[in-house]
This record gives sequence, C-alpha cells and structure tokens, in this order.
Amino acid sequence: MPGRLQGKVALVTGAARGIGAAIARKFTAEGAQLALLDLDLQALEALAAGLEGTSLTAVCDIAEKTAVEEAVQAVLARFGRIDVLVNNAGINVFADPLHTTDEEWRRCMAVNLEGAWHLTRAVLPDMLGRGAGSIVNIASTHAFSIIPGCFPYPVAKHGLLGLTRSLAIEYAPKGVRINAIAPGYIETEKVTDWLETHADPAAARARVESLIPVRRIGRPEEVAFAAVYLASDEAGFCTGSVLTMDGGRSVVYHD
Ligand SMILES: NC(=O)c1ccc[n+]([C@@H]2O[C@H](COP(=O)([O-])OP(=O)(O)OC[C@H]3O[C@@H](n4cnc5c(N)ncnc54)[C@H](O)[C@@H]3O)[C@@H](O)[C@H]2O)c1
Repeated sequence: MPGRLQGKVALVTGAARGIGAAIARKFTAEGAQLALLDLDLQALEALAAGLEGTSLTAVCDIAEKTAVEEAVQAVLARFGRIDVLVNNAGINVFADPLHTTDEEWRRCMAVNLEGAWHLTRAVLPDMLGRGAGSIVNIASTHAFSIIPGCFPYPVAKHGLLGLTRSLAIEYAPKGVRINAIAPGYIETEKVTDWLETHADPAAARARVESLIPVRRIGRPEEVAFAAVYLASDEAGFCTGSVLTMDGGRSVVYHD
C-alpha cells in the first residue's frame, strides 16, 4: 500500500530531536522524501542514518533569513519541489515581563515567529507555481492560553497562529493549505529538561499530569500523526485550522 505521503517532498525544521524528529520518522514511514533542518547537524545526521527514505540534512538557523533562503534553494535543487513545510523549530523563552532582556525578546520572536515566516516566504513561490502545498505550523496551547511566568513565548505563539490564519486565507484559492497544531505538554527533552529544573522533578511531573484530563503527558508521535494528516491530501478541505492536542487541558475552566 502506498504511504499517505508517498511521492511528497517535506521540509521539517527543528528535526534533530523531539517533535521534529518524530515527524521526520512518521513522514518517512509514510513515503515522504525529507529535507531536515536544525542547528545540531550531528543529531540530524544520526536521525537521518536511521531513516529508510531519502533525506537531506542541513544546518540552518531559521532566524537567519539568508540562511533559510539558501537552505530552501538547496532543497529545491536536490528534490525539484517542496510539497510540505513543517515549521516546527522553536525555543522556550520564559521570563518576568519587566526583566525580559531585549535579546531574549528578539530571539524569542526571531525563532518562534519570524523563522516560520522566513521558511514560508521561501517555499511559497514553488508551491504557488504548482498550485499545491501544505504548511503545518507547530504552535502551542500558549497560542491562546496563558501560564503566568512564561512571557514572551506566548506572544510569539499567538503571532504564529495569526500567521497561520492570515496566510491560509491569502493562499486558499491558490491551492496552498496552511494549518497549525497546538500541542500541550509533550514528552520531549525540552519538557524533561524543564521538569529537571524543579527542586523535586517527580513532584513537578505529578502536578503537570494532575492538570491534564487524560492524566498523562503527550507523546511526540501523537503530534506526528496529526502532522501526517494535515500534510497529506486527506486534509484537502482543511486550511486556517488549529488542531489542539493537549489531553483536554485547554477545555477545562477550573476544577
Ligand atoms: N514539547 C512540548 O511540550 C511542546 C508543547 C507545545 C509546543 N511545542 C513546540 O513544538 C516545537 C518542538 O518542540 P520540542 O519540544 O520538540 O523542542 P526541542 O527543544 O526538543 O527540539 C527543538 C529542536 O529545534 C531546534 N532549533 C531550535 N532553535 C532553532 C533554530 N533557530 N533554527 C533551527 N533549529 C532550531 C533544536 O536544535 C531542536 O533540535 C517547538 O516549536 C515548541 O515550541 C512543544
């Protein structure tokens, strides 16, 4: 049976670990050819070595517009087109608002918001030229809900949702679909590292789990399954949408 992404070329940012690596694994299992970007080339190459399909790996800081344009040109030169873009790379920047440095603010916006725009702008001409394409932005429940102490990350993620919805409508008549996934807590190194910053990591994990109606943290593969759907032609009528995956947490008003 052909895979759900058979014959498609997909570019995934932040693919070296976590949700991005899970998406790379699922996409390749569904028949996609992959272009994987990250800051960590060693981890990218280790991942690519374990994948069955064709993949191109490159170091690229998505905050750097020129580097992004060069990377996208290299992908187009290698594969001839880009059918799917997954804007996954992101960083946590959590600070007290009045103590947020200019550099923290700039880096947060540059990676979590502008990076997705740099990639999108670079791939759109090819997608529009063929009248087809799917862009999947990995946002967050921070794109519509606030946890005190997490500023300015939610500002950037709200913006990413705005970018998703705005561009979805601009390009809907031209065959390019743009959707977002909003994960809640997902078991990646970023989350486990954050849990380890607590005096009692086990108690911190138990508290997080108790807040989630399904009483567990999500798995990267669960986000990857959603990305496969949105990237595939199965989602042909789906654009400008956001798929929340948080074990029910954002539906709760209070206990
Ligand atoms: N894990 C969660 O609970 C969670 C929840 C909601 C949203 N998200 C979002 O999902 C995405 C992936 O999160 P994760 O938990 O897998 O993170 P992670 O930190 O485990 O992995 C992120 C990857 O992105 C890469 N990266 C970071 N900055 C980059 C840059 N400037 N250019 C290129 N690559 C860069 C890192 O090197 C890393 O390999 C992020 O956008 C994050 O905001 C994660």
